[in-house]
Amino acid sequence: NVSIPFYGTNQAGILTPPQNFICFAAFDLTTTRVEEVSKLFRVWTEASANMAEGRMVGPDNDKPNLPPEDTGEAAGLNPNQLTITFGAGPTLFDERFGLSAKRPEAFVDFPRFAGEKLRPEWCGGDIGVQVCADDMQVAFHAVRNLARIARGTAVLKWTQEGFQRTATASNSGETPRNLLGFKDGTGNPDTNDAKLMNDLIWVQPSDGPDWMRNGTYMAVRRIRMRIEVWDRSTLKDQESTFGRYRKSGAPLGEQNEFDPMRLDAQGPDGSPLIPANAHIRLAHGEGQEKILRRSYSYSNGIDLQTGQLDAGLFFICYNRDPRKQFIPIQQRLAKNDALNEYIFHMGSAAFACFPGVRQGGYLGEGLL
Ligand code: HEM
Repeated sequence: NVSIPFYGTNQAGILTPPQNFICFAAFDLTTTRVEEVSKLFRVWTEASANMAEGRMVGPDNDKPNLPPEDTGEAAGLNPNQLTITFGAGPTLFDERFGLSAKRPEAFVDFPRFAGEKLRPEWCGGDIGVQVCADDMQVAFHAVRNLARIARGTAVLKWTQEGFQRTATASNSGETPRNLLGFKDGTGNPDTNDAKLMNDLIWVQPSDGPDWMRNGTYMAVRRIRMRIEVWDRSTLKDQESTFGRYRKSGAPLGEQNEFDPMRLDAQGPDGSPLIPANAHIRLAHGEGQEKILRRSYSYSNGIDLQTGQLDAGLFFICYNRDPRKQFIPIQQRLAKNDALNEYIFHMGSAAFACFPGVRQGGYLGEGLL
């Protein structure tokens, strides 16, 4: 099947197995009228539902004296599993639109995390849109047309493209590897377990507010890898940094990728096999906080300030309450993670992702 339904209880692109490519877009609103924001979401809803089915964004594409409604580069292409996932940024709840009383309690600003080197041009946004597809041209087309529709109401603030190994490069369904060469995604919760997803991802009626019910919170971190430094470190160092073997992806001391980590396992000298500051050990903590990671690799050419590759992980995760899930994990990692020698966070954004849309409804209904 080449298409993923746009309409449903939850937005697509969250539990959806990650497609090959991402084109992420953060928008800032230029209007100050909440009715215009609401109108934008209505038009975006229809355009997105059309694109998810491989149709043109609108009907007027053949009038010689008008610019075509759809920009055309996806004409004749199948939708390639296109998903378009929308969320509201914290700034949507500032004084401009009178929405501050509707800001969810769980949707707090992130604290400053130790060691981050955030650059404003990679941060924030009134609206976040995660576009994923198995074809980059299809994904780009979606972002471009959303931006075109928004003209006069919202402008792009930043965008980031990303990739993983494609399905044609590996037909075995193996966990993809990140740019540090390690399998990434092994420890994710099981997205087929509906009860677990209600526990960890979807906002429940008791959580409030009503307009977020069946929605979720997205955390985005643009994380640069110091690739040149990593490439000079030994295999043993690399493996103790993560706490897993590079080849198999198994936790240190174990055989297979999906074997549970044994935190009490010791080496011959009595020291823990998985070091106290290993990434998986710290990220796991006491096993209290869990998130659904849905990250992509990125590569943006050379950082002109340093002459080094601007490449890394475009980290995205979903959780039901960032105060209890993403934030405590990231606080532990920021402080002590062995990986910090090889990475730094240069972008950050948070979005409250709307519930899914029913046929006839629109994104953000209940809020806008
Ligand atoms: C696990 C890589 C940043 C949270 C892992 C694993 C790798 C990895 C290779 C082991 C395999 C797996 O379970 O997927 C990276 C890299 C990062 C990064 C390269 C930055 C460039 C982060 C951040 C967070 C995070 C920012 C959250 C704040 C986790 C969690 C696990 C994990 C929760 C699973 C731990 C468990 O098994 O319970 N990561 N990660 N990671 N990572 Fe990261």
